[in-house]
Amino acid sequence: MSDKIVSVAIDGPSGAGKSTIARALANELGYVYVDTGALYRTVGYAVLQNGIDPKDAAAVEALLPQIQVTMGYVNGEQRVFLNEQDVSGFIRTPEVSMAASATSAMPPVRQFLFHLQQEMAQKHSVIMDGRDIGTVVLPFATVKIFLTASAEVRAERRFIELQEKGMSVTYEEVLADMKERDYNDSHRATAPLKPAEDAVLVDTSGNTLEEAIARMKEVVQNALKE
Ligand code: DC
Repeated sequence: MSDKIVSVAIDGPSGAGKSTIARALANELGYVYVDTGALYRTVGYAVLQNGIDPKDAAAVEALLPQIQVTMGYVNGEQRVFLNEQDVSGFIRTPEVSMAASATSAMPPVRQFLFHLQQEMAQKHSVIMDGRDIGTVVLPFATVKIFLTASAEVRAERRFIELQEKGMSVTYEEVLADMKERDYNDSHRATAPLKPAEDAVLVDTSGNTLEEAIARMKEVVQNALKE
């Protein structure tokens, strides 16, 4: 492959398998994997840690200048840092998911994380996943993919994941959360979740993980040939 910097933007709703697939593809293709959801989760975590209501836009905005969110790589794995503390282990709870969903709708929060994301894609060939990567963060990405699956299939996958982590939740709760977050993410005024006009749509509802990875790899390789 040439030295040209390549960017692959993968957007889609939560639980579509974006991060697992993007990580696997990045490993195979030798690109840096950037999980932008982890950045929004770090802000959500900071908000909760400071006792702020995630829906209180004024309080959330006032917190931003007081915090520092950065990312780094340890053994090839992305880690996220809040004021230099590695918080990667604390950002996957349902509470943080909801806080991230609420605060990510706020323009100052999106602005706060915008440059960090763009900077990564300027320095490295990346596979970046999120909600607005192809539409807002990297509008000139080499390849854009919109990855999705039905809400039921996504809830089932997330439910199994949470159970494996020992968290006590029911499938119905996970499905309800999933639908609420889908609604929030796609109906917000700023950077709503939607496919870029030139994105390739991939629905993985009927696919195993391996099949989904193979399909995505084909899409990326075809686009890189063009
Ligand atoms: O992908 P995830 O579930 O880790 O994302 C957590 C939240 O952050 C989710 O509610 C949507 C939001 N998010 C966003 O608004 N923009 C992104 N680029 C990535 C995530």
